[in-house]
Amino acid sequence: MKHRDLIQQMTLEEKCYLFSSKDFWQTRSVERLGVHSMTLSDGPHGVRKQEGAGDQLGLNGSLPATCFPTAATIANSWDPALGEEIGKCLGEEAASQKVGVLLGPGLNIKRSPLCGRNFEYFSEDPYLAGKMAAGYIRGIQKNGVAACPKHFAVNSQELRRMASDSVLDERTLREIYLTGFEIAVKEGGAKSIMSSYNEVNGVYANENYHLLQEILRDEWGFDGFVVSDWGASNDHVEGVRNGSHLEMPTTGGDSDLKLVQAVKDGKISEEIINQRADEILDVILPVTESVKKYENRPLDIDAHHRMAMKAAGESIVLLKNEENILPLKKGTKVAVIGEFAQKARYQGAGSSVVNPTKLDHTMDMIKNFDLDVAGFEPGYPRSGKGDPAMQAKAVELAKKADIVLLYIGLDEISESEGLDRAHMKLPQSQIDLLEAVTAVNPNVVAVMSAGSSVEMPWLDKCKAVIHGYLCGQAGAGAMLQAIMGEINPSGKLAESYPIKYEDVSSAPYFPAKQRTVEYREGLYVGYRYYETANIPVLFPFGFGLSYTTFQYSDLKVSDKEATFTLTNTGSVDGAEVAQLYVGKADAQVFRPIRELKGFAKVFLKAGESKTVTIPLDDKTFRYFNIKTNRFEVEGGEYQVMIGASAVDIRLTGNVSVKDTDAPNPYDKRLLADYYSGQIKAVPDVEFENLLGRPIPDGHWSGILDMNDAICQMYYAKGWPARQVYKIMTRVICFTDRFHYQAWKALADR
Ligand code: BGC
Repeated sequence: MKHRDLIQQMTLEEKCYLFSSKDFWQTRSVERLGVHSMTLSDGPHGVRKQEGAGDQLGLNGSLPATCFPTAATIANSWDPALGEEIGKCLGEEAASQKVGVLLGPGLNIKRSPLCGRNFEYFSEDPYLAGKMAAGYIRGIQKNGVAACPKHFAVNSQELRRMASDSVLDERTLREIYLTGFEIAVKEGGAKSIMSSYNEVNGVYANENYHLLQEILRDEWGFDGFVVSDWGASNDHVEGVRNGSHLEMPTTGGDSDLKLVQAVKDGKISEEIINQRADEILDVILPVTESVKKYENRPLDIDAHHRMAMKAAGESIVLLKNEENILPLKKGTKVAVIGEFAQKARYQGAGSSVVNPTKLDHTMDMIKNFDLDVAGFEPGYPRSGKGDPAMQAKAVELAKKADIVLLYIGLDEISESEGLDRAHMKLPQSQIDLLEAVTAVNPNVVAVMSAGSSVEMPWLDKCKAVIHGYLCGQAGAGAMLQAIMGEINPSGKLAESYPIKYEDVSSAPYFPAKQRTVEYREGLYVGYRYYETANIPVLFPFGFGLSYTTFQYSDLKVSDKEATFTLTNTGSVDGAEVAQLYVGKADAQVFRPIRELKGFAKVFLKAGESKTVTIPLDDKTFRYFNIKTNRFEVEGGEYQVMIGASAVDIRLTGNVSVKDTDAPNPYDKRLLADYYSGQIKAVPDVEFENLLGRPIPDGHWSGILDMNDAICQMYYAKGWPARQVYKIMTRVICFTDRFHYQAWKALADR
């Protein structure tokens, strides 16, 4: 133990105090021994330090801080170094506000495009998510502040997030849902991690020995502390016993008393308490020291604003560019249509909401660009039903310009913590507007703002689509730079865009209608599914256009690296995100047809060529073997594919790899759907074969416990419980509306 001397001087009560907080955000101190209180604050894309009473939903105001683009946006940059630069700014701002632990980044897997928090997460791919998260963490921790990757783990659904049980096989857990966290911990060196609300295979994440001790600490060598998500501590004693440290927020002393009593009653040993105290002190002591050093240090807020703009610019994805309508020529006569051009749609709703230091809007920024602006019309109300009069005015304006810049996307309420989306469509008012505008002016450039993927049945109506995701406080100007060609868009999608929601692999299983959330699609998430099962998509994972073109040639592959030549064959400078996928055509252990195992973002001047090397690593060929309970390698020949997206493979090489001599854990006849990738209707028996155990009964047992969701009462046998369900769901609708009004008020500020 590193802090044995200190711990020996502490009373049992003082030690137990270390594991709970004094309020919503601050740990308790033991001042007589120099252990100071440490502040934790959201969040992933900006510091949300609340001034007054704390709350999780950000209803109470917070100190101004730079609002960077959200994780879903920055993931499109495919640039962990950019994540690190953002992280450094976040860490500086945190420290200057005396925040010791910044609650982010969020890196849950986008299992479904409908998860309400997708805007806070990086990707459907764990490798990309992990690499991006590791970048943020390295940056945040440069100033001695601890980062806190979240939500550990398998928390890919908001519905009933506190009471659901994620049921999945160990291989899917390891390869899809944990690999990102593994990279974040090992390569980012995270000093804390947040356990999620849900259960994982029947055990709350915050009490899950397998996750917290066996995998996180023993296997990955994590040396920080675990904090429960706010309210995710189900049983504090069990949490501490199984590898969690800090319960958040305060329970007013109740949990500490229980913990002290549990030690006295011999229910948990004092050695465990000492061990956990040692682990958390190892972060509290240096973090509180660094914060003291940095607090009130002057910040260059303008520089951070510029950084937010640069980050937004590097993450813009050009999805369509018919007739090279973009970039616009100087002096082009444009009509700007769309409410989001007047008031930016730049971040999501929930605990991540940042109170920006300033906020750029398109209609203010456009004056700085050489465009002949014919006028502006909002065209649609920000939320709710369309307005024919607004639409008519927009159509009139569209007639007066050569090009229409049509700002569309998802509104605030569509993307929120605590709620999943009901569908993948844009608001009908915007689609109606788009159709009406294109009928009078075919030169429409759709400028999109949304933190998650959407269906685009209207795509052929516009000539170009340029997507800024949720661009942060300075994104409006970056988007105009891209539209004018001052920036050559180089972002590529970190998630697939299916043609329609029904194509998504988890669609039959999401959101779970019962207590258990069955991850029946297994490994086949996102492009892993579309590619293996041969399902066409609208825009594939890794896709993004540029104002230039790139050529790939001369691939050489060894078991250490892939090397090839990349040439900018167009007439403007630009960056390309080259992606390395690996597949095994003759695999005996089933696997997706190709999986991302490396990438490189390369900047090339027009006409320039560079030799690019993408290293292979311990994750390139491995799979998790449920028989040996560790990662193994199936020997033989692998295909190493270099692509401009998951479907646009430009070069392929073969490499032979040694076997680790593990037995094939699967019987192909019992797992036909997993071998074919056709996993939309996995029968119970086959899912059980994959799980290696019976499917847990997810129905409400008839007995409610404190974590049961209200919706469980829907299944109740007695009518009184069903009545309560009806009343409570009405109350929830009301509070949702109230929350929405609060978000709106914040957005309108
Ligand atoms: C969210 C976390 C957040 C915490 C504190 C929870 O509801 O899930 O992401 O960090 O609140 O605001």
